[in-house]
Amino acid sequence: MPAYRPLKIASSEITPQQHYLRRREFLGAASLGAMALYGVSKASAAALSVIDSRYTVGEKVTPLKDVTTYNNFYEFGLDKGDPARLSGDFKPLPWTVKVDGMVNKPGTFDVEALMKEFPIESRTYRMRCVEAWSMVIPWDGFPLASLLNKVEPLGSAKYVAFETVVRPDQMPGQKGIFQSLDWPYVEGLRLDEARHPLTLLAVGLYGETLQNQNGAPIRLVVPWKYGFKGIKSIVRITLTDKEPKNTWQVTNPQEYGFYANVNPEVDHPRWSQATERRIGESGFFGASRHPTLPFNGYADEVASLYSGMDLRKSF
Ligand code: MTE
Repeated sequence: MPAYRPLKIASSEITPQQHYLRRREFLGAASLGAMALYGVSKASAAALSVIDSRYTVGEKVTPLKDVTTYNNFYEFGLDKGDPARLSGDFKPLPWTVKVDGMVNKPGTFDVEALMKEFPIESRTYRMRCVEAWSMVIPWDGFPLASLLNKVEPLGSAKYVAFETVVRPDQMPGQKGIFQSLDWPYVEGLRLDEARHPLTLLAVGLYGETLQNQNGAPIRLVVPWKYGFKGIKSIVRITLTDKEPKNTWQVTNPQEYGFYANVNPEVDHPRWSQATERRIGESGFFGASRHPTLPFNGYADEVASLYSGMDLRKSF
């Protein structure tokens, strides 16, 4: 993130419905519990997929309006409201993801076919941005491990690299002389992180098809890491034996690293990571603050991935 900006929920309108609303045929029936949990209309609750109680967090979910209007997606601009306001021309379908590199069965896969092939799960995860704001988001998607199993990684593969689409004609942040970042936006995980059951490829949220500003049609969600690891609008996934660089690490290696595990004890050079502002909630003095949890609250599930590592150094 180029510079810390204080909380500013943009007043910009959300993307017009016709640009994104395509109720997914793969979503199953909803439960009344899901409706109560999400506080959404009957119509959209009817499209919710089955909720797996292992993947709930017991905290209030962030209102849909905030999840879809307060975004980081620099391909559409730098302000939080830009992605919702400026992504109306982006065409998320048809879409393919190329999976290549150190695998037995490389391929180029149609996203809608993947949505039919793999059962879609609803999982509510905390999302903690490195900028010290957070949300609780009900995602719909399938484990990245399902796709990795399909392509059969070679024994020599150690990492997974990801790439976002480059379409300057549809992504206004990618054109012009003042380029904020190098494109494509790239990310990476260790193969064991990528295969972890919590690691999700999201294709929807709140039981609705993913909107452009949230990374349509397919984006990564790694809930124990800072939000920038959640690369959006993925077109390529490459298995490799070299640690891949990510966009923020390349842009500012003093401030961002490969691991980016949420850690309240390691401050960002420019701000504390001990607490976070929960978007959509108001507290006594403005947005309510929550203590930041080690691994964003997922330590029981993932801390063992990093045993023996100095977590203060592996930022
Ligand atoms: N992916 C791409 N391609 N471009 C981006 O600018 N921003 C990242 C991540 N994925 C980003 C991206 C950051 S900094 C965050 S915090 C999350 O997306 C935000 O996801 P959200 O807007 O859906 O909340």
